[in-house]
Amino acid sequence: MSAATARAEAALTDLQPRPDDILADAIAGLSRSPKQLPSKYFYDDRGSQLFEAITRQPEYYLTRTELALLEARMPAIARAVGSGAHVVEFGSGSGRKTELLLEGLDAPVAYTPIEISRSMLLHSVARLAPLFPAIEMLPVCADFTRPVPLPVAARSARRTLVFFPGSTLGNFAHGDAVRLLASMRRTMGADGRALVGIDLDKDPARIEAAYNDRAGVTAAFTLNLLARLNREIGSDFDLGGFHHRAVYVPARMRIETTLVSDRAQTVHVGGHAFDFAAGEAMLVEYSCKYSDAAFAALAGEAGLAVDERWNDADDLFGLRLLRPA
Ligand code: TRP
Repeated sequence: MSAATARAEAALTDLQPRPDDILADAIAGLSRSPKQLPSKYFYDDRGSQLFEAITRQPEYYLTRTELALLEARMPAIARAVGSGAHVVEFGSGSGRKTELLLEGLDAPVAYTPIEISRSMLLHSVARLAPLFPAIEMLPVCADFTRPVPLPVAARSARRTLVFFPGSTLGNFAHGDAVRLLASMRRTMGADGRALVGIDLDKDPARIEAAYNDRAGVTAAFTLNLLARLNREIGSDFDLGGFHHRAVYVPARMRIETTLVSDRAQTVHVGGHAFDFAAGEAMLVEYSCKYSDAAFAALAGEAGLAVDERWNDADDLFGLRLLRPA
């Protein structure tokens, strides 16, 4: 272990999140109609690499638009947040977005990434700590979909700022998204704020292109889920027998990413047999897109109000600063 990782580990609060039951989750999803697979299992090592590659595809406008927006608006964000914040990121935040935020805020006192994967968490803090020697690193290993008590910073913070970029909120079903926002509200406290990245509703062709890139990286990413299940729970998905398809459903303002069975076939998972018809689509992920009204309503359901809003010049992607309503 490197010295930086050892230091990160010394500061770690380990709430010991319950290990996932991949087999039970897969069987439950495949027993539904339409069949589903749980998308939280996309991000094994290969899946994380493929996702990084997705963010560099020409059609995937989300990541580069959000980065440019964050960079351009950071002075206004810093003014709205004020000095001495304790930044709490939902997810490991090893990347450029976290750096831009920590660099651009006015003298933040502490940074707490909340991440379920202990190794990703320690790795990201070991990388960030030397870049920000004045910011106290207080990582928490926990499932951020449940309420997480925050470690107290050595220097007292003026306010808590929750950071949740990437339009990851859009990957949660409506009720789960409301619960997650409500849990952010508890974490931030009465005078806290949350900075949330959201992908905006737009021309369906533009959105569909982002989730069906020509190089086939997204297709490889979704099929990797089947490879992971085969390896970890001994299922027998034929990787050549399914293909990736992502369709935008304007009435629901969401991309529905599916794996479609090329033929009638039976898949075995943990002693259960699941029959697929030719052309049957299995749901693997929703990515919700938002209008201003829809997002404000969602935040409102969680007891939050939109304090400030920033979009890029083409209204592709937005950042919203939320406060308790
Ligand atoms: N949060 C990302 C998004 O919804 C994750 C993602 C990108 C994704 N491409 C995907 C998830 C394809 C499933 C399938 O944009």
